[in-house]
Amino acid sequence: MRKSNIKALIAVVAFAGVPATQTAFSQSNQQVGHVINIGRGKYGGNPVDFVDGTTADVRLYSTALPAAIVETLARGEVKNLALQTPGSSVPVQLQIDASRPGPRVSPMLYGLMTEEINYSYDGGLYGELIRNRVFKDDAASPVHWSVVQEGGGTGSISLDSAQPLNKELPISLKLTVAATGTQRVGVANDGFWGIPIRPNTRYQATFYAKAGDGFTGPLDVAIESRDGSKVYAHGRTRKITGDWKQFAVTLQTGPGPEAQDSRFVISAAGHGTVWLDLVSLFPPTYHRRANGNRIDLMQKLADMKPAFLRLPGGNYLEGDTIATRFDWKQTLGPLTKRPGHPGPWQYRSSDGMGLAEFLVWCEDLHMEPVLAVYAGYSLQGEYVKPGAALQPFVQDALDEIEYVTGETTTHWGAQRAKDGHPAPYPLHYVEIGNEDQFDRSGSYDGRFTQFFDAIKAKYPTLQLIATAATPGRTPDVLDEHFYRTARAMARDAHHYDNYDRHGPKIFVGEWASQDVDRPWVQPELKGPTPTLNSALGDAAWMTGMERNSDIVVLEAYAPLLVNVNPGGRQWAVNLIGYDALNSYGSPSYYAQVMFAAHHGDTVIPATLTGGVDLYESVTRDTKSGALYVKLVNTAASSRSVHITLSGIRTVQPTGTAVTLSGSGPKDTNTITTPNKIVPVTSKLTGMGKSFDYPLAPYSVTILQLHVR
Ligand code: AHR
Repeated sequence: MRKSNIKALIAVVAFAGVPATQTAFSQSNQQVGHVINIGRGKYGGNPVDFVDGTTADVRLYSTALPAAIVETLARGEVKNLALQTPGSSVPVQLQIDASRPGPRVSPMLYGLMTEEINYSYDGGLYGELIRNRVFKDDAASPVHWSVVQEGGGTGSISLDSAQPLNKELPISLKLTVAATGTQRVGVANDGFWGIPIRPNTRYQATFYAKAGDGFTGPLDVAIESRDGSKVYAHGRTRKITGDWKQFAVTLQTGPGPEAQDSRFVISAAGHGTVWLDLVSLFPPTYHRRANGNRIDLMQKLADMKPAFLRLPGGNYLEGDTIATRFDWKQTLGPLTKRPGHPGPWQYRSSDGMGLAEFLVWCEDLHMEPVLAVYAGYSLQGEYVKPGAALQPFVQDALDEIEYVTGETTTHWGAQRAKDGHPAPYPLHYVEIGNEDQFDRSGSYDGRFTQFFDAIKAKYPTLQLIATAATPGRTPDVLDEHFYRTARAMARDAHHYDNYDRHGPKIFVGEWASQDVDRPWVQPELKGPTPTLNSALGDAAWMTGMERNSDIVVLEAYAPLLVNVNPGGRQWAVNLIGYDALNSYGSPSYYAQVMFAAHHGDTVIPATLTGGVDLYESVTRDTKSGALYVKLVNTAASSRSVHITLSGIRTVQPTGTAVTLSGSGPKDTNTITTPNKIVPVTSKLTGMGKSFDYPLAPYSVTILQLHVR
């Protein structure tokens, strides 16, 4: 989204009481001319998305609000939800009534949203270690490459369009070499903020090379310290010829310590010219996949037990222009056939993480794809008129669905098999576009209708997700996004309690508590990952989604990943941080892990009284008999909760408590202190149909009881 176009004019907010009215999702939001967007209210039945201020919702209440809250809000002190609430001495009661089981918890509730932002794929999850491997990142110079000249050898490097590898990769790197004896001349790549050196590890280097001006090689290939003084691993190619050929070299590190102050070097002695293209270096990958993913990040994602991957979501799907959208057909096949494309977040995508890789990622983590198809609108305002002009894009979406689900007898199913995966993937949800309320042309209704009709005609059982109001067709699911302060998130934890149950289901496709203003402005000065305060807002918000999971069928935090190096982020607050070597989960990450690990299949009604700044969700796993009591205490003081259970025969005296807490709301994890805020598991004894439980200040707690 381009928030600069959005103006917040008025904000009338209340954080207590019961909403007096709710605007049904019914009409279109044309957003032509001057539109008054007020917070994240419903404009014409359509979510307005968030605005620049801390205000996140507009509501009218039938009951008066406590004066203290109104005053605090008037002063604008809405940033730190913990500061609002010194706690209360009113006894807190949680009455759980299992005799009236509530709705089913959507088995797909907890998932992942992904896009190329913050070096999420290149320089992140995607295993490739060479930056600018096809020399397209900058048209003027071979950025991230430098010439190596040692011992008196001389050489030069430059981009060369006269020696293309093929039409997709038309630029090569030209290296001239003049070196004799022990002299060395070569090219060095600085990786994505370094090359991760792990002990006793095997790396696979591959590249295309051709020689000229009498040069025949061989080429030396090494991973070394940035100043070249230390060689971590080394190998050599066979002779180089005058034709493009691919070379592969295995590089094995020894037992030394880990490092990331390092570079990758291809060098030579002799005289002549060498051209290089598609220079690649892979470490071991998750499940040993070729062209695969980074192991530590995949493990962190696996620990979230995600049910789905929204692929790819966000602005990355749309692109700045139609030409730079995520054009899935350009991301298939061998890497030599992938031209890559400029992304909307100020850097190019190699498209090494293409549609086929997204799907393998799903399979590796036992997730289902939620397939986001480009719907004819791009961020700078270009759009395709519904009708004949849109038809090729609709056909692209049908082809994409066939690629994911088709038998190998179909054209695109056969292509998937050729790409290494004969078996179709499961698919139930397809999302049409992203944040189309920003399309000021008012074309979304027509565009959605055309996609909807075509997809339903061929795939009637697919659930189709709209991203804005669509009066022409009723979507199966509506994608709503929330980026707000922790306080606003927590106070709106009842958002879906009285929601219209007759309209579309809800996909909360992007959301996060972010105690920063405008996370896309100077993100390098904020974040990169949330504090405990945000995690409390997140957890409170998650209790609301879980309790209302009959309507909220899917949810995903965003953004998911961030490279924490300087220049690595375009968004301030993100779930999981990493550099070349290490990664860590934020407190919000651990809140997600905790919720997904204690999922349950049925919502159990519960009444919380006396619990200002407390939030709850109770679910049950009907097969195992586990009862999960999730409690969030956003206050600075400990609270004792008296818990009573009815509608069950027995409660086992022992259970488990998992708690996430810290000494203050600003506590957080970082790349150097990754484990400051992590869940702690303890044993419970003395459980029964009635017991007291002390909630720590600033805490998320999940009690696991065994009931019959
Ligand atoms: O998550 C960051 C961005 O926020 C997404 O790309 C976009 O969909 C949303 O506005």
